[in-house]
Amino acid sequence: FERVDWRPPRQRLLVVANRLPVSAVRRSEDSWSLEISAGGLVSALLGVKEFEARWIGWAGVNVPDEIGQKSLTKALAEKRCIPVFLDEEIVHQYYNGYCNNILWPLFHYLGLPQEDRLATTKSFQSQFAAYKKANQMFAEVVNGNYEEGDVVWCHDYHLMFLPECLKRHNSSMKVGWFLHTPFPSSEIHRTLPSRSELLKAVLAADLVGFHTYDYARHFVSACTRILGLEGTPEGVEDDQGRLTRVAAFPIGIDSERFVRALEVPQVQDHIKELKERFAGRKVMLGVDRLDMIKGIPQKILAFEKFLEENPKWCEKVVLLQIAVPTRTDVQEYQKLTSQVHEIVGRINGKFGSLTAVPIHHLDRSLDFHALCAVYAVTDVALVTSLRDGMNLVSYEFVACQDAKKGVLILSEFAGAAQSLGAGALLVNPWNITEVAASIGKALNMSDEEREKRHRLNFAHVTTHTAQEWAETFVSELNDTVVEAQLRIKQ
Ligand code: G6P
Repeated sequence: FERVDWRPPRQRLLVVANRLPVSAVRRSEDSWSLEISAGGLVSALLGVKEFEARWIGWAGVNVPDEIGQKSLTKALAEKRCIPVFLDEEIVHQYYNGYCNNILWPLFHYLGLPQEDRLATTKSFQSQFAAYKKANQMFAEVVNGNYEEGDVVWCHDYHLMFLPECLKRHNSSMKVGWFLHTPFPSSEIHRTLPSRSELLKAVLAADLVGFHTYDYARHFVSACTRILGLEGTPEGVEDDQGRLTRVAAFPIGIDSERFVRALEVPQVQDHIKELKERFAGRKVMLGVDRLDMIKGIPQKILAFEKFLEENPKWCEKVVLLQIAVPTRTDVQEYQKLTSQVHEIVGRINGKFGSLTAVPIHHLDRSLDFHALCAVYAVTDVALVTSLRDGMNLVSYEFVACQDAKKGVLILSEFAGAAQSLGAGALLVNPWNITEVAASIGKALNMSDEEREKRHRLNFAHVTTHTAQEWAETFVSELNDTVVEAQLRIKQ
């Protein structure tokens, strides 16, 4: 017999997220350029390859005309992406408003808007209505592209209504929902006026996933306290005995992509240039979206404190802070940009010389290869988020450090602290004195200790990949649906 290399057909996956992995910029009436979007969700999902995946989401641009919508749909199809077109008013109320002014700060323990962020209760209600409407628009695009047997994987806080919209239309659809931010303590979630509706809508999914066990636990206790539903070790059971499975699935990155990039000649040249540029100085690095949850002002103030207490380091260390602009239409983000600029300017004025400044601050992203080169020349990475679902910058840094074995200073309030805690120096980012002391410890750490800590982190990052994360979630979702069917038959 001739040997036939048979493989089962790859499972079709519809990945639904507010933001597509590419954002569109209009060049002319019918031509578009597509750029990789920023953020942890995109960088992880780019590493997921084993599925026949299609993406459904917003391309980050308002396209009111038919020619534009048709040409963008065609351009995105080449990237296996399907657009959801959101008009300006919806973007304003749903994305800037309910998602980024209400849910995002709340889920990161920054509380509900105070008066200057939430003028009247009426605006809250219209934002919530727009949120539900936008979720329904996503559902319609999913329904239009769904084929029997597909797995539909909904992502993040933008789409908490989506499981309910999808199941209402087709109760046999396999629906998973995954949150990329923390899920806060039930005491925080309780403060949200629409707390019950959101929880019920998420519970329509078959499987609900979080980055850490703590977030999953908070979600289950919110369902118990707010909805009065029973939490079991498997998840949450409703009054009719239907179980929504709830579990933790810590995300990872495509570590090989980073390791391979370091071999690219262009990256090696860049590494050489950077080494020459910063010769005689230790390089510290921060890479963050310019978001209040990232703790950028606190980090820079800790660096200032370190320089004040250790003046001999002033000429021997540089902090590269790459602050990627994000959600620039939201007022809080505009205020943060000015605040960070003011602090950086003050510190550079205070500690700079004619030839060097202690902080290089960039208000933009770097392309993938430039980013890998910067990671590779860094001695100490500072990831000091005030709260963070996971934080994959910490993983990317570790993946690029096998030659240098640099130190990772990591916030204990980032999900990554639960996986990289043994190798990193953990800090409370609110405690500027502690962060300043950790900077000193990292810069003075012995080679043996750096090596030992790096080994632990590197082993984790290279074995807990994005691919493994996605496979585990999807296979758990398939199993959950089969088990639920068996339960019904019994
Ligand atoms: C976080 C969120 C993602 C989001 C990303 C970028 O990582 O969890 O859902 O896409 O930030 O934010 P943006 O608002 O630009 O999509």
